[in-house]
Amino acid sequence: MRITVCENYDEMSKKAAQLVLAQVTLKPNSVLGFATGSTPLGLYENLSEMCSAGQIDFSNTVSFNLDEYYPIKKDDPNSYNAYMQENLFSKINIKRENAHLLNGETDDPEGECENYERMIGRVGGIDMQILGIGSNGHIGFNEPDSVMYPYTHITHLTESTIKANSRFFSSVDEVPKKALTVGILTILNSKRIILMANGAGKKQVISELLGDGMKLNLPAALLKLHPDVTLICDKEAYPK
Ligand code: GLP
Repeated sequence: MRITVCENYDEMSKKAAQLVLAQVTLKPNSVLGFATGSTPLGLYENLSEMCSAGQIDFSNTVSFNLDEYYPIKKDDPNSYNAYMQENLFSKINIKRENAHLLNGETDDPEGECENYERMIGRVGGIDMQILGIGSNGHIGFNEPDSVMYPYTHITHLTESTIKANSRFFSSVDEVPKKALTVGILTILNSKRIILMANGAGKKQVISELLGDGMKLNLPAALLKLHPDVTLICDKEAYPK
């Protein structure tokens, strides 16, 4: 795992944006994997500005988001569909039909997950996957559990994730208890992975990730099996 430690959130976001720029410049029809949460907001702001300035062109790119709450309406302000629309897709020139998200409104979550996995396969997999990390080590919504699911699936959120994500909702009871998420192998099949982490709240989990071995209760530790992962974090999240 390559590690880049940045002075602050701003620098981390700019560095990540430079990596996306290089990816899309070298391969204009890149398949990008996008994440949600507070971590990539600065990255998305940078990409939006670069796109407005004509420095990056998303018109031939395809994207797949990692996850979505279940059930949730697409136009619910807390859905990841709404988040992506507001923070990125409305500000860059990606074709809306090329920007894929799991559908939290579906009556057939299993079918939705199978179809999503098939769509990722049909375009040859993800070229560059952007990841955040939950403070319990989850990636996407692959939570610590005794069973790991390789492919896109429906999952239960842990109490700690529901609590952590309740900051975006008006109360903890409004956080959906389930989610649709790409699986661990879907993530590990990406050609390159950019893992982002910022703030003192992530220091413990990054310390566990960078420690010896691979912790079984830390889904992010599976990233150690991947040959091309770059961790970009700020000083506060870096344990050394
Ligand atoms: C959320 C998302 C993850 C995200 C993580 C960290 O629950 N499902 O994809 O990486 O939690 O969120 P944040 O960036 O807000 O700390």
